[in-house]
Amino acid sequence: MNYKDLGNTGLKVSEIGIGTEFLFHQSKETASDVVNYAITNKINYFDILFTVQNYLEKIAVALKSHRNKIVIAGHLGTKDSEGRPKKTRKIEECKLEFPKILDILDIDCVDIINIQFVGLTDIPKLYDKNGLYELAQSFKKEGKAKFIGLSTHDINIANQAANTGKFDTIMFPFNLANHYLPNRAELLKTCLQKGVGLIAIKPLAAGRLMTRNRTTSIAKYQTGGISLKRKIPNDITSAQCINYVNSLKGVSVVLSGVKSIDELQENLKYSAPKEEKQDFTSLVEFFREKI
Ligand SMILES: NC(=O)c1ccc[n+]([C@@H]2O[C@H](COP(=O)([O-])OP(=O)(O)OC[C@H]3O[C@@H](n4cnc5c(N)ncnc54)[C@H](OP(=O)(O)O)[C@@H]3O)[C@@H](O)[C@H]2O)c1
Repeated sequence: MNYKDLGNTGLKVSEIGIGTEFLFHQSKETASDVVNYAITNKINYFDILFTVQNYLEKIAVALKSHRNKIVIAGHLGTKDSEGRPKKTRKIEECKLEFPKILDILDIDCVDIINIQFVGLTDIPKLYDKNGLYELAQSFKKEGKAKFIGLSTHDINIANQAANTGKFDTIMFPFNLANHYLPNRAELLKTCLQKGVGLIAIKPLAAGRLMTRNRTTSIAKYQTGGISLKRKIPNDITSAQCINYVNSLKGVSVVLSGVKSIDELQENLKYSAPKEEKQDFTSLVEFFREKI
């Protein structure tokens, strides 16, 4: 496993991280086995997307017992709605929800507090007094988080956020299907220049790239701005998809969303970028938007 700088945070993160979203529906045993297997394989970055009690309990023991050697990102902007995750922008709700991550995982702080799913309608209020950014800052001041991040599925919001100087990390979808997304190259460049840690989500376009031999629609939120339809090649592999994202200069960690050890094993067949450049031309051209 290679480790990269997470922007200017001083944190060294494994080039592959675990997005725990798809452990939500798995048994406690599977969820905990996946986390332990990842740690055994030297993965040190874990993304905690929801505040749902049952989900947090599934991964709590495994994460807590390795706390001193892993990086944890916990999200702000989500709530537990009768056992299901629900987006919320209500400050009072977010104030009550975020500490549940610390309580249930039994940890003092997260490394990154990530303001999640930032959309266009969130922007006007984001930096207001009593807005979500101020709330993230107050958790940081209280010692409950070390750094502040933002995640979005909109390339313009990601670029704006990277330029504000307010965020230590940005989460954004990167995959073979968005190679030609307008302004994506700018995001990579800005994050590198400004020392913002870039966390790549959706390396498999939320699993769409694995629907081999089937005609599949890939939605805008899976690429950060492009929707397209393709018959997915029969021979595409998850390792190829991850290799591509991992080869992008500026990306610190590629978050893989897995629901089993089998999927994680498959994804760990990726290979670290080599001296000689890997050639992804035919794949990125295949997904290029036809004008
Ligand atoms: N806004 C945010 O903050 C935000 C948004 C989205 C995601 N995230 C985080 O980023 C993580 C990564 O994003 P993602 O999970 O959407 O991306 P992804 O890795 O592109 O897709 C995950 C999907 O691919 C499938 N898959 C994984 N490995 C596979 C394999 N070897 N073979 C076949 N299918 C495989 C998964 O399981 P199945 O198809 O088998 O179910 C899952 O549906 C999430 O888990 C989450 O923690 C954050």
